[in-house]
Amino acid sequence: MNTIIFATNNQHKVDEIRHLLENRFEIITLKEAGIHIDIPEPHDTLEANAREKSTTIHELTKQNCFSEDTGLEVDALHGEPGVKSARYAGETNDPEKNMAKLLENLKGVDNRKARFRTVISLIFNHKEYQFTGICPGEISLTPSGTQGFGYDPLFIPEGGGKTFAEMDKNEKNKFSHRRKAMDQLIIFLQKNAE
Ligand code: IMP
Repeated sequence: MNTIIFATNNQHKVDEIRHLLENRFEIITLKEAGIHIDIPEPHDTLEANAREKSTTIHELTKQNCFSEDTGLEVDALHGEPGVKSARYAGETNDPEKNMAKLLENLKGVDNRKARFRTVISLIFNHKEYQFTGICPGEISLTPSGTQGFGYDPLFIPEGGGKTFAEMDKNEKNKFSHRRKAMDQLIIFLQKNAE
């Protein structure tokens, strides 16, 4: 089986992606590859941050690997929190505080349109490829649901009728930005991996 390192320390993302791959490829996390680093995200685009993470791991391991960077882009906030989604309300990633800040900034705002955007950076046979997945939707007035992570309790995907946090993994994956980017990654790997 083909082994690929997923350059993340976020177990939720690993679970979502393993669920999609159904054993077609073996995904190894940084921890499982024996790499214990917190990769910085210093850039102001998802594309550049995703590339930073995958190239850092590739330089260390010389193995096929991929990373992803995701942002929640809110129209009324001119695309914010976007690339700053993890640390919107402060230096540590605190989902409760991030959601509170988002709701505060959208107080009284009618246009609640938003989208999650995921950029995957794959390094395959020492070359980089990028895949993007977008999930359009809107920000709810109050948080709802207990599943998922991050902004899931506030995000209602278009056609979903409820927040991501009210969906199980299968249902979230029907709509999800990460799944759409992963679909392209899987098609690429199926074509190019032996
Ligand atoms: P990252 O930099 O790609 O880890 O993602 C930045 C932040 O976006 C995360 O810390 C979460 O707050 C949020 N995020 C990313 N993906 C999702 C998702 O699928 N649902 C909800 N929030 C997400």
